[in-house]
Parts: sequence; C-alpha cells; structure tokens
Amino acid sequence: MTRRVTKAIFPVAGQGTRFLPATKSVPKEIMTLVDRPLIQYAIDEARAAGIKEFIFVTSRGKSALEDYFDHAPELESSLEKKGKTELLETLKSTNMDSGAIAYIRQHMALGLGHAVWCARRLIGDEPFAVILPDDVISGEVSCLKQMVDAYEETGGNIVAAMEVPQSKVSSYGVLDVKDDMGHIVSTKGMVEKPDAADAPSNLAVIGRYILNPSVMNHLNQMKQGAGGEIQLTDAIAHELTEGRDVYGLRFRGQRFDCGSKAGFLQATVAFGLARDDLRDEFSAYLDDVQSIRRAAE
Ligand code: UTP
Repeated sequence: MTRRVTKAIFPVAGQGTRFLPATKSVPKEIMTLVDRPLIQYAIDEARAAGIKEFIFVTSRGKSALEDYFDHAPELESSLEKKGKTELLETLKSTNMDSGAIAYIRQHMALGLGHAVWCARRLIGDEPFAVILPDDVISGEVSCLKQMVDAYEETGGNIVAAMEVPQSKVSSYGVLDVKDDMGHIVSTKGMVEKPDAADAPSNLAVIGRYILNPSVMNHLNQMKQGAGGEIQLTDAIAHELTEGRDVYGLRFRGQRFDCGSKAGFLQATVAFGLARDDLRDEFSAYLDDVQSIRRAAE
C-alpha cells in the first residue's frame, strides 16, 4: 500500500534571469498567461491531484507571491457593492485556506535540490510532490493527477518525462531506461544535463515529481552536481543505488517551458486561443500574418 500524496513543494526561489529586466521586481511565477499567473496553473493542477498542503520555497523579492494568495477584503467588498459577481468569484477562487500554504526561505539559490531540501521538516516521512511552476502543462487530466494515479500502482519515485530532440537533451535531466512499458518506463539511472553524445536516451524529465521522503536524506549530503548546483536529479538517482524504484511517466498533455521566452510566448498563444472570450478576435489577428509581420518591424 502506498501512502497518499497530500503535500507538494513549489520551488520558486530561482532568480529568473532569463526574464530580466521584468524579474528585477516581478517574480517569474507571477507573470501571466492571459490573465492568470503561472503559479495559479500549478496550484490548480495540484488541487486536481488531491494536494492539501502547499509548500512554497521562496527567496528575497517574492512577497508579491505571498500577497497573491491572500484574501483581498477591500477589493472583494468593492466588487460586491458594484454587483460584479463573476469577477468576485474569479478572485475568490485564488484564496487559499488558512494553514494550507507554508512559506520557507531558501537563503541562497544553491540549486533545485537545495530548494527542495529546505522543505524537509514540513515533509517529514511522507511521500511528496514537487511542481516547478515554469512548466505549464495543459491537458484533460492534470499531469500531477496522472502521476498520483501511477504512483498508487507502482510506488517508488515517479518523474514526468517526455521525448525531446537530441540537440536539447543537455538542458534536461535524462532517464536511463531499464524497461519501456509504454506510458511508464522503469529506469536504471538518471543524468542531469548530459552532453548530447553521452545521453542515455532522449527521454527528459520535466518539472513534476512524486518522491519518497528518503530523497531528502540524499539531499542532506549537499553534493554539488552539474553547473555547481545541488541537483534534485542526483538525489533521485541515488534512490536506485539503494534499491528503490524510479519510474518515468509519459504524461498526456502539452507542456510549455514558460521559464524560456519562446516557451512563454507559445503558451500565451495556446492559452489565448483556448479561451472562449478571446478565441475569435485573437485567431483573426493570428490569421493576418502580414499585419503581424508589419507590426513587428
Ligand atoms: P531554473 O533553472 O529555471 O532557474 O529553475 P531560475 O532561476 O528560475 O531561472 P533562470 O534560469 O535564471 O532564468 C527551475 C526551478 O527551480 C527553482 C526555480 O524557482 C524554478 O522554479 N529554483 C532553482 C529554486 O527554487 N532554487 C534554486 O536555487 C534554483
């Protein structure tokens, strides 16, 4: 019997340098796809997977993120007075229950593994999820829900995986596949940011994980990995050496790398087109390629 996964860590302490100068004062996770910040998509996905405790690993300059999840009584009562019930509902859907969110500081950006380790006391001895809000995944079933379902069958550790072009593998953690069972693979290793020539496969890990609490013990050792950072991938790979399983799940859905400018723009177009209230006007604009080109010149 596996234990239920009710806790998720959201590491949001990175500096977001690829979005400077915006990220000088706006946390990357607050940047919006249409009208919802990246972090809202991550929270909704986690809720749909049954997560009850949301642990944010933050850093200096991220207070906008804490405010975002707080109640906004003045705004709410002004919308109420004006009878703007729809907007009021939208606003209320962002409120989180008292005690459901915890914030932990990562004092220095020493890497994703270190950020996750900062939450160790709140995790205790339970399995936990990790969600990187820069990876936004659209699809019928929440990606994390697909992972929780798989975890209930397999136990072990589960990472979300997708095939990427060989030329891109050096940007990802990559799985060394033991047994390919279609939508799930078992693994015999994991390498962070390998050279394309040395990569064990082109099955890359993206920002969703369900992990055993023992991963925290490996992170305790604070070993630096690729790029001099404390890598979560290395700690997960360590699970294999101790006889625990690591599976990759080929999730159903479309993933957008919103940590990069190109990915963010693609997501903006896709999410804009998915909206009933914007689709007609927006697709008419996109169809008029000539005028887009002229505007860009
Ligand atoms: P990234 O590698 O995208 O780094 O981190 P970044 O700082 O956010 O962005 P760039 O590369 O400078 O533009 C992946 C995820 O890990 C978190 C980030 O917040 C992001 O969610 N992270 C990374 C931490 O929380 N702490 C770290 O020390 C490093």
